[in-house]
Amino acid sequence: MQTAILDARTDLSGSVSAAVEILRLNGLVALPSETVYGLAGNALESEAVAKIFEAKERPYFDPLIVHVAGSEWLTRLAGPGSAESPLVAEMIKRFWPGPLTILFPKADLVPDIVTAGSRSVAIRMPSHPVFVEVLRKLGKPLAAPSANRFGRVSPTRAEHVLEELGGRIPLIVDAGPTTVGLESTIVRAIEHRIEILRPGPITQEALGEVAPTDELHAGEEIAAPGQAASHYAPEKRVYLLDIEDTADHSNDSALICWGPIHQMERFFEVRSLSENYNLLEASQRLFQLFREIDQMEGVKRIFVERVPERGLGRAIMNRIGRAAG
Ligand code: TXA
Ligand code: MG
Repeated sequence: MQTAILDARTDLSGSVSAAVEILRLNGLVALPSETVYGLAGNALESEAVAKIFEAKERPYFDPLIVHVAGSEWLTRLAGPGSAESPLVAEMIKRFWPGPLTILFPKADLVPDIVTAGSRSVAIRMPSHPVFVEVLRKLGKPLAAPSANRFGRVSPTRAEHVLEELGGRIPLIVDAGPTTVGLESTIVRAIEHRIEILRPGPITQEALGEVAPTDELHAGEEIAAPGQAASHYAPEKRVYLLDIEDTADHSNDSALICWGPIHQMERFFEVRSLSENYNLLEASQRLFQLFREIDQMEGVKRIFVERVPERGLGRAIMNRIGRAAG
């Protein structure tokens, strides 16, 4: 299969129409979202959803997020009354459209293949104008995991999607690098608390203004079966840089540092997540840097410095931790 790339920055309506045409025939399209590029298919058609699992080589036990353009879909996709909890309503009001995925009891309309047989369905309303336009024109919700092969780093640019899925899907809509660069926060409301299943761009601090939060830690991750420790990993081994590490790694290792470039004498290559300690810039750059270094000749190992674990820093450290396994 030939993979076409259409640039939404130069031709928005043309690329949206092409995407919708493919989606109507139960085909797949890679679309930009504000977080990472997603591999989208009609969420209400098992045939389309099956193609997503196949293209990604994703195991069928790992459920998909359903994307909607408006909250009117909630009453159809989620069980009756489930969006009416004041806590859920408040999260929707504050954070949608945006990078927050919420678990709801699943309605029968959602095919079982989407939720991997689970009785909860994960729903999010993205804010990226291209994704939103496609949802509106299609008039159907879209199932969309990150547009990478299973277990690999999520794509933040159209070129990354081509590397991952070129030849397997008919179309990639390019809208440039994504603005957030990390996958959405996934939450579940349990009575009057918010359980964070995957830390992300909507921070614990922001959610904490709505209700007390609990973060699930490795081993407690029953509700997010896809959160396997091997996720988001580059091909080369990743290590968290120990502050006591003073060894010479200059023969075969790269460093992803925090702040101005330093330690150049100890490493073969050094790249910075953000030279001026900006966590948003770091979240935008992390996955791109993993890919860039994965392709560097002469580098066998990737060391990463810690970033402060507040705000977006928690999600960044979560992804670094997963890549380090
Ligand atoms: O930002 C994002 O969330 C991106 C963009 C494309 O929207 N999507 C994304 O999807 O990261 P994916 O499939 O790569 O990660 C979704 C995670 C998986 O770990 C999956 O196990 C979990 O969400 N998940 C999906 N549906 C679920 C459900 N019903 N119950 C529990 N976990 C669920
Ligand atoms: Mg993924």
